[in-house]
Amino acid sequence: MLSLVVLISGGGSNLRALLEASQDAEFPARVIAVGADRDADGFEHAEAFGIPTFAVALSNYPDREAWGDALVEQIQVWQPDLVVLSGFMKLLPPRVVDALGPNLINTHPAYLPEFPGAHGVRDALAAGVSETGASVILVDNGVDSGPILSQRRIPVLPDDTESSLHERIKPVERELLIQAVLDIANGHINLKELATT
Ligand code: GAR
Repeated sequence: MLSLVVLISGGGSNLRALLEASQDAEFPARVIAVGADRDADGFEHAEAFGIPTFAVALSNYPDREAWGDALVEQIQVWQPDLVVLSGFMKLLPPRVVDALGPNLINTHPAYLPEFPGAHGVRDALAAGVSETGASVILVDNGVDSGPILSQRRIPVLPDDTESSLHERIKPVERELLIQAVLDIANGHINLKELATT
């Protein structure tokens, strides 16, 4: 059974999908704790499933490195097999990526390497593309630049707003994330190998 710590910053709808998937006895992964860089709204999903939460706010630390060390310390308490960034909107300092990798994955609302960063949906709309997408990647020290585990294209509709497009992307992200966790758990995806290719 693969144990997961999930990190969020916002509403946590993708976290909820993972929690729901874990309800199935056949699903080979379990969320054991949920962390955030703030008192995130998405904690309510963890609480609804009886999963412990922790918040490590950047503003409580003198610099990003000290914040990152505190975050790693909180994560390591749980000794997870895999850490999932699911709408975690802070860039992790390199030492955090080094400490947790390669067992560290991220979901992103665009077809990487297109539109990396904090505004993947907005940037795709602004670029006027007819298709964007969703991706699940292994986290490296760049911005959404790690090896791609899975991704899928999603059309941009003529009257799309950032919010309508994001709401169409999220269900695809959830499917990709759950499948990626499944593939990691059953050995179809080997993160160690991917990290060295
Ligand atoms: C998701 O679309 C996730 O890919 C995105 O934030 C959303 C979180 O939604 N993350 C990024 O943009 C990271 N660059 P949720 O809180 O409802 O799961």
